[in-house]
Amino acid sequence: MTVHFIGAGPGAADLITLRGRDLIAASPVCLYAGSLVPAALLDHCPPGVRIVNTAPLSLDAIIAEIVAAHEAGHDVARLHSGDLSVWSAMGEQLRRLRELGIPYDVTPGVPSFAAAAAALGAELTLPGVAQSVVLTRTSGRATAMPPGENLAAFAATGATLAIHLSIHVLDRVLTELTPHYGADCPVAIVWRASWPDERIVRATLATLESALASEMERTALILVGPALGATEFGESRLYAGDYDRRFRPVGTAPRFPEPEAE
Ligand SMILES: C[S@@+](CC[C@H](N)C(=O)[O-])C[C@H]1O[C@@H](n2cnc3c(N)ncnc32)[C@H](O)[C@@H]1O
Repeated sequence: MTVHFIGAGPGAADLITLRGRDLIAASPVCLYAGSLVPAALLDHCPPGVRIVNTAPLSLDAIIAEIVAAHEAGHDVARLHSGDLSVWSAMGEQLRRLRELGIPYDVTPGVPSFAAAAAALGAELTLPGVAQSVVLTRTSGRATAMPPGENLAAFAATGATLAIHLSIHVLDRVLTELTPHYGADCPVAIVWRASWPDERIVRATLATLESALASEMERTALILVGPALGATEFGESRLYAGDYDRRFRPVGTAPRFPEPEAE
């Protein structure tokens, strides 16, 4: 028996790995983390599956479900939105499972920042403009930010910021970032990236508030940084004609030549 933690992706039901889909199909118990996990993924569950929405459950109640499955010898598919490495509450579940001696594995998923960047058609790291992406958030009712992790500190680096869980404090985000990036810095908000009702607003730090027509639902990412609007950036050296590298040495034939046409 194994508990399979599976990144369910950002929303579109086909943005899950084949491994994740197959583990869902092979598990007689499926625990999923509420409305951010697309309901269509549950269609992969086998007949007779026990399906539980864990959104209203406490950690103790979730672990009780897992323990019951363990005692019955049933694998569990445990679905969380996006990828499990950020804001999934997987860490506390793994700690309990280690204490209980219950086996688990982890299958990654498409994180929402990647889905938002795809929706924008944007590379978040452009040569000479930004080479780092900071995945962050602001303090919430349940989670305070550790000392030193604040928007001003990250903004001071000039990196591209992908700010999660913060659309409800957008005013504060804009106020804290503007002194560092400048009022003309590009910003984009992507609501429900990859869902059928995905929505995008692009603006600058100065114009964003007036560009927002109405209050929108909370599942949104705020992306900020000069890379979002840049057209003046260098080309990657990797593909430069004069850049010597193992598979394309300068001045010699390619090591893996194209097969000759028949
Ligand atoms: C609890 S966190 C989950 C993050 C998730 N584990 C991931 O890999 O992206 C929820 C926050 O992620 C962001 N988010 C999740 N799905 C999103 C989507 N489809 N579009 C935009 N933002 C999303 C929002 O900022 C939301 O408040």
